[in-house]
Amino acid sequence: MAIDSFRFGTPTEFVFGPGCRGQLPERLAGLGAARVLLVTDAGLEATGVVDPVEDALRGAGLAVTRFVDVKSNPTVENVDAGAAVLRASRADVVVALGGGSPIDAAKIMPAVAAGGFSAHELMTGARKIERAGVPLVVLPTTAGSGAEAAKVSVLVDHATGEKKGVFGPGTAPAITFLDPELMLGLPPWLTAATGMDALSHALEAYLGLSATPFSDALAEQSMRLVARHLEAVVADGSDVGARGAMTIASAMGGLAKDQSGLGVLHAVAMPVGYLYDLHHGYLCAALMPATLDVNADAVREKTAWVARCFGLVESDDAAAAGNAGEVIRALNDRIGMGMRLTEAGVRDDDVERIVTDAMASYLLKNNPVPGTPELCRRVLVESL
Ligand SMILES: [Fe+2]
Repeated sequence: MAIDSFRFGTPTEFVFGPGCRGQLPERLAGLGAARVLLVTDAGLEATGVVDPVEDALRGAGLAVTRFVDVKSNPTVENVDAGAAVLRASRADVVVALGGGSPIDAAKIMPAVAAGGFSAHELMTGARKIERAGVPLVVLPTTAGSGAEAAKVSVLVDHATGEKKGVFGPGTAPAITFLDPELMLGLPPWLTAATGMDALSHALEAYLGLSATPFSDALAEQSMRLVARHLEAVVADGSDVGARGAMTIASAMGGLAKDQSGLGVLHAVAMPVGYLYDLHHGYLCAALMPATLDVNADAVREKTAWVARCFGLVESDDAAAAGNAGEVIRALNDRIGMGMRLTEAGVRDDDVERIVTDAMASYLLKNNPVPGTPELCRRVLVESL
C-alpha cells in the first residue's frame, strides 16, 4: 500500500435492478421535490428513452423542465445554460438521464445556479464550489463513464483550450438508479467503447499510487465483471443480465477512481479527446495496452492480476505482467476497439502538443511510473 492514511465514503445511494427507474417519482417525492430539471441530450431524446421517464414524473404530479443542450464533450457553456434554466424554473432537484456527458454537465449546474459564478471560473480556479445546490439524481443510459458514481465532472473550456475535471460539495449524485433496461438499445460499438471506459477507471485506480484496500476491492470486482460480461453484451445487447453486470462494473469503477484517482491513460486521453473530438471510451481502449506496458514493471503483481483476470494462464508474475498489454490488445480486437489512433485521425505532428497538454494534468501524480513527457509520449506513440 503506497499511502498510510485515507478516508473512504460515498454520498451516493445506488439503486440497482431491471426496471428500478420506476421508483424515481416516489424517491423524488422523498427528497421533497416538486419541480424537476431533467438534463439529457438530443441524441438520447431521439431514441425514445426520455419521454417515458418524463411522462412518469409528470404523472406523479411533478413539474418538469427538460434541458437537452449538452455536447458529447460537455462544455462550460452547456453548464451555464443549464444553470440559468435551473434558476428560471426554480427546480428543486436535477435529474440527469443519459451517458457521461449529460451527467457531468448536470453535476455542476446546481452549484453554478446557487453560487452565481460561471463554470469557466471553476475551470480556471478563480472560483470554487463552497456549498451544494439542489440535489442531483442520476439515471445512466450507458455503462462506462463512472460519472454516475463519482463527484468529478469533466468539462471542456474552449476559452482556455482545456478538458479537465472539477468537483466540490454536492457534485456527487444523491441517488443513482442502475437500471440495465435503459441500456438495451445501445449499439455494439458504443457498448464496447463505454465498457472499456469502465475498465480504464478500475484499472488506473488499481495501479495508481493512491490505491487503498477499499479502492482495490472496488477495482478488482469491476474488472472481474468487465472480463466476464463485456464480450457477451457487445455480442448481444439485449442480454439484461450482462447489461446489469456492466452497470455495476461502471459504478464500481467510478467509485474506485473517485477514491484513488486515475493516471497516464486519462492524462493523455483528455487532450486527444479535446483536439480530435474522439469518443472517450474508444480512446481508453486504444491507450490501455500501452498504459499496461509502461507500468508493468512498477506494479508487477497488480498488472499480472489484470492479465490473469482477462484470461491469461501464466503463473510467473513477471511474464504475466509483461503480457497484460497484449491481452487487452486481443480483447480490443474481439470487441471492435482495435482501431489504431492514426486510423482515428490522430496525427504524428500533434504528438508534442498532446504531450505538453497531458503534462499539465494532475492525474499524472497518481501514476505508478513518474509522469514525465517521455512516459506520456511513449503511451501515445505506442498507440498511434
Ligand atoms: Fe474515463
